[in-house]
Amino acid sequence: MIFLKSAREIETLRHANLIVAEILQELRQKVAPGVTTLELDALAEELTYKNNAQPAFKGYVMAGRVYPCTLCTSINEEIVHGIPSDRQLRDGDIVGLDFGVIYDGFYGDSAITVGVGKVDDEAKRLIQVTEEALYKGIEQLREGKRLGDLASVIQTTVESAGFSVVRVFVGHGIGKKLHEEPPVPNYGDPDRGLRLKEGMVLAIEPMVNAGGYEVEIKEDGWTAVTKDGSLAAHFEHSVAITKKGPYILSKI
Ligand code: MF3
Ligand code: CO
Repeated sequence: MIFLKSAREIETLRHANLIVAEILQELRQKVAPGVTTLELDALAEELTYKNNAQPAFKGYVMAGRVYPCTLCTSINEEIVHGIPSDRQLRDGDIVGLDFGVIYDGFYGDSAITVGVGKVDDEAKRLIQVTEEALYKGIEQLREGKRLGDLASVIQTTVESAGFSVVRVFVGHGIGKKLHEEPPVPNYGDPDRGLRLKEGMVLAIEPMVNAGGYEVEIKEDGWTAVTKDGSLAAHFEHSVAITKKGPYILSKI
């Protein structure tokens, strides 16, 4: 069941996602060598409550496992769902910050990947291409287009840069639940799949590996890493489809 959102619901989703966007900017400023991912998690949680919102990920159950933190922090070969710990970020690392809140019954969800200190050119290019793929995909979010149009633009952008798109994790509808229908893959063929309609709100989240697209899950049951140990990047925006085109709810 795909829930179409009213203009009023979209404004509440905007509020939730703007809180997410502003907190992600604060977190980005804090990223530096020596900072632990648990310190980032604590800051995210404090700012969430200051904004009269609740963490969306803490306590979230996926495949029978309970996620323990407010933030997901995925370092280097970690793709998504890295769990904050006392591990310190190091100069040259890249770190994915994936963050969600609930505000007035509606979810916000967005992610960025940032370099720590001085990052090498290939890591920078991976981050740039992943963000570019996200924005090119978002351009396709218009009434009458199909999910395959979005997917193929993302896949082509990533693969023509020599990187690969993760298959086993996908984006999703978002609203009164964090994960609603439909699933939103980042690979596929144009002119295929669901036809997009005004009122749909989708979280688009390309996960891009510098090497192959295969994934492994670490012993903690959450952290997804690249099978070949290559670097990975992840960007995510929650976007409403409106008469005027895509409305990026998680952008300041
Ligand atoms: N942005 C991620 C997603 O959409 C966050 C989920 S982490 C979890 O899947 F802990 F909440 F599962
Ligand atoms: Co998401």
